[in-house]
Amino acid sequence: MATKKNTPGSTSALLIILVTGVTLSLTMDSRPASPQNLPLRAHADMDGLALTPPMGWYPWNAFGEAPQTEKLIKEIVDALVASGLKEAGYAYVGPDEGICFSRGPDGKLTSNLARYPSGLRGLGDYIHGKGLKYALYTDAGSKTCSTAMPGTKGYEFEDMRAFAEWRADYIKIDWCNSEGQDIVKTYSLLGEAQRAAGRPVVHSLCSWGEGYPWKWAGAIGHMWRTTTDICGPGQADWARAVRIAFANEKLSSFAGPGRWNDPDMMVVGMPGLSDVQGRSLFSFWCMMASPLIAGNDLRDMTRPTIDILTNLEAIAVDQDPLGAQGHVVWDDGDVSLWAGKPLFDGSRAALMFFHGKSKARLRIAWDEVGFAAADELYVRNLWTHETTGPHAGGVDVTVGGSDVAFLRISKTKDFPIPPILVADTYLVSLRAAGSRPEKLTGTVSVVNKGSSDLPPWRVDPTSLPPWLSVAVTGSGKAQTFVNTVATAGLKKGAYHALVRADNVEPISGRPMSALYYDVDLEVVRNVRR
Ligand code: GLA
Repeated sequence: MATKKNTPGSTSALLIILVTGVTLSLTMDSRPASPQNLPLRAHADMDGLALTPPMGWYPWNAFGEAPQTEKLIKEIVDALVASGLKEAGYAYVGPDEGICFSRGPDGKLTSNLARYPSGLRGLGDYIHGKGLKYALYTDAGSKTCSTAMPGTKGYEFEDMRAFAEWRADYIKIDWCNSEGQDIVKTYSLLGEAQRAAGRPVVHSLCSWGEGYPWKWAGAIGHMWRTTTDICGPGQADWARAVRIAFANEKLSSFAGPGRWNDPDMMVVGMPGLSDVQGRSLFSFWCMMASPLIAGNDLRDMTRPTIDILTNLEAIAVDQDPLGAQGHVVWDDGDVSLWAGKPLFDGSRAALMFFHGKSKARLRIAWDEVGFAAADELYVRNLWTHETTGPHAGGVDVTVGGSDVAFLRISKTKDFPIPPILVADTYLVSLRAAGSRPEKLTGTVSVVNKGSSDLPPWRVDPTSLPPWLSVAVTGSGKAQTFVNTVATAGLKKGAYHALVRADNVEPISGRPMSALYYDVDLEVVRNVRR
C-alpha cells in the first residue's frame, strides 16, 4: 500500500514550461475546444508512441508488493499469451513494486537477483521474446510508495539509463515521498533523462491528479493518472471505480493521440466485482479512450472475465485512431448517457449506464449522440454483437442494474475494427561465430487483428547502423520484417540496434503508433572484410 502520499497541492494559475525548445503556456481555466485542437504539442509527436491508449497488465491491483517475483511475472506473461489477451492487443507487462532493484554504493541501480534471478534485463528479454513489451515502475521522489525501492530523486539520468539498459518500453513513475519537489519540473527532468538515455519509452505519470497533470503532462509523457488508486491490493471496489470513471470523464477535452487521461489499472476480474459490473467498467474505460491496463490475476480468470477483457468490438472503441475521449452528456442520477466519441469510419460510440437496481427501458435519441435527429442509423451492440436497424430518430435499449448499453452507431452496416497489432517477437538475436564474412537474418512478424489491410511498414534506412538492413515482406494483415546483418569487417563484440517502423491507418489516414523492436548481434571473433 502507498504509505506516504502528498496531499494535492496548488499549481500556479499560469504554467510556462519549456519542452524540447518549444515554449508552452496555458492558463488553468483554458479548456481546449476538442481533442483534435489541443494547444500543446504532444510529446508523442517525437517518438510516435501510444498514439492509441497503451494496453497491458500491471501487478499492483492483484498482488501488491510481496508476491512479486520473476516466477510470478513469467507465469503472468505466459497466461497473457495463453488466455488470448495478447491476441486482443495487450502488450505492456512487467513488475511494479516487487522490490525489483536497489541502489548500490556507486549510486547505480542493480537488479534484485534474489527475486529476479535473470536480472531485470533477462526478464525484459523474456517478455520481448514473447512478442510483448516491457513495463517497469519507479517513483519521482526519494522512495517508491511502499518505500521498498529507491525513487529517482537526484538520480534521474542514472536511473533512466538503467531502465534503458534493461530495455524498458514503458515506465510508470509514481509521486510518493516527493514533498517539496516541483511537480512540473520533476517530471520534465525525468522526460529529459529518458530522452538522454536514448530508448523511447511510454512515460506514464502517476500523481493521482495532483498538480493537474492533464494541463501539462501531454508535452512530457503519454498518460497521467487523474485520480486516487482504484483499489487496494486484492479487492475491487465497485463504488470507488464508478466514482473514478465519473471524475475522469470530466477531463475528456485534454485527451488525444499520444496523451491520455489514466483512470488507473482496471479491476475487471478481481474479487469484489460482478461480471456485469466488470463489463460496465470495461465499457467506461473503452468509451474514455483510457489505457487498458488489466490489474487482475491473469493465471486465474473465469470465462466471462476473459470475454470482457478480450472483446475486440469494445477494444476497437478504445483503440480508435481519432483518439477522442467520450464523456457524459447528461446524468439524471439514475441514468447517464455517454457520447462525444466519433470513430475513424464515421460511426460514433454511445453508452447508457443505469445506476439503479432493476431494469430500465430507455431511449437514445440520435441528436444526443452527435447525429442529426432525423437520421436513419444502424446500431451495433458491442456486448451482444448484434446489428439492428436502420432506426429512425433513435433507439430503445433495455439496461439492467449496474449495467450498460454500449453501442456503435453508423450510417452503414459495416463496423470495421481499427488496427490491433500482434507480434511474434520484439527481439531478434543473432550470433556470428566465424571470421569469414556472412549474412545472417532474423525476422519479426506482425499481424493486424483489425479489419483493414495495412500499407507496408516503413523503416527509415538512414536510422539503421551500417551492419543492419531491414526489408518488409508480406502485405496487408500479415507483414514480416526481415533483418539482415552483414558481418564483413565487424570486430568481436556485442552490437545492438533499436528498429523503428511507422505506418498509417488507411481509413482515417492517421499515423499509427510507431513499432519498435531490438536487434542484438554477438560477434564472437573479428570478421574479415
Ligand atoms: C501508488 C500508485 C499505484 C501503485 C502503488 C504502488 O499508490 O497509485 O498505482 O503503483 O503506488 O505502491
